Amino acid sequence: MSRVDWEELPAELRQAIELRTGRVVSARSVTAGLNASAALIITTAGNGRLFLKGVRDDDVAGATALRWESLLNRTVRGVGPTIRHTYRAGGWFCLAFILIEGRHADMGPRSEDLGAIAFTLRQMQKLRAPQTPVPRFAQRFTAHLKPGEAEKLAGSHLLHTDTNPHNIMIGDHGGTAYVIDWAMPAVGPSWIDPAYTAVRLMECGQTPADALAWLSGFPHWRRADPRAVEAFVNVICRHWTETVGERGASASNERFRQLLNFSHETTTSHRPGMQRRHRRSFGSSGTSSPLRLHLS
Ligand SMILES: Nc1ncnc2c1ncn2[C@@H]1O[C@H](COP(=O)(O)OP(=O)(O)OP(=O)(O)O)[C@@H](O)[C@H]1O
Ligand SMILES: [Mg+2]
Repeated sequence: MSRVDWEELPAELRQAIELRTGRVVSARSVTAGLNASAALIITTAGNGRLFLKGVRDDDVAGATALRWESLLNRTVRGVGPTIRHTYRAGGWFCLAFILIEGRHADMGPRSEDLGAIAFTLRQMQKLRAPQTPVPRFAQRFTAHLKPGEAEKLAGSHLLHTDTNPHNIMIGDHGGTAYVIDWAMPAVGPSWIDPAYTAVRLMECGQTPADALAWLSGFPHWRRADPRAVEAFVNVICRHWTETVGERGASASNERFRQLLNFSHETTTSHRPGMQRRHRRSFGSSGTSSPLRLHLS
């Protein structure tokens, strides 16, 4: 999607923004990401630099996504950037976030960001479920579920479900990982976000063994019910095959199926050596508190 620049936003919206932030001295569009019609870094006279994300009111999916971000922002405080201002003006819905001074996470081989990413994902597992009812994870796969699978995927943890490298930013100061773009949340078992992230590591070029070794640092994953993991993998593969066809889905499905090679602590029939091989320390980077971002 091509992003809308600052000058192209309706005057009414720009005025509403400047009323709260002071004059916008400069603005530049962010090219990464697909969904929001406007994604801008703005430098303001009164509020410093902010990240502005907006959609037109008639963009139903975009507005729903942004509404989720808005609803969950308090809950995810500490792992994602705080929203400073909310605007509804000129036919647009916009959120102004605290700017993360940083870069996208490196999730490829030899990345030094994996410790920071793991740290933040573990913070996410401690988040208290929001008051707002969030859809159950299995709900998004309703058409692809087999009997009993929804029950296996039940859980009460808040999940992000889209931890691709453009949705994880590494702060320039301290190397903290921030998980942004809480646009399609769900509730389910707490190991789902680490598992999705391990699949992203494979997608970014890590070997399945390395990705599973990283994943083994999550106790909730180690103790996950293998039947639930199997349901997770099967439903995702089924959904993707039905969406893009057998051929189109094969590479992604293969990565998800790698998750089934892990021996969980609850498994009765352990495959000797598997777990040990997949364990690896996280390293020490990124363990500083991410709360700094939310104080201004
Ligand atoms: N608070 C922030 N500070 C700095 N940059 C940010 C911030 N939030 C987002 N970005 C940048 O803007 C990009 C797009 O943001 P985001 O992922 O929230 O939007 P999106 O259009 O919904 O993307 P997607 O295609 O993932 O849905 C991010 O990949 C990141 O580069
Ligand atoms: Mg995004």
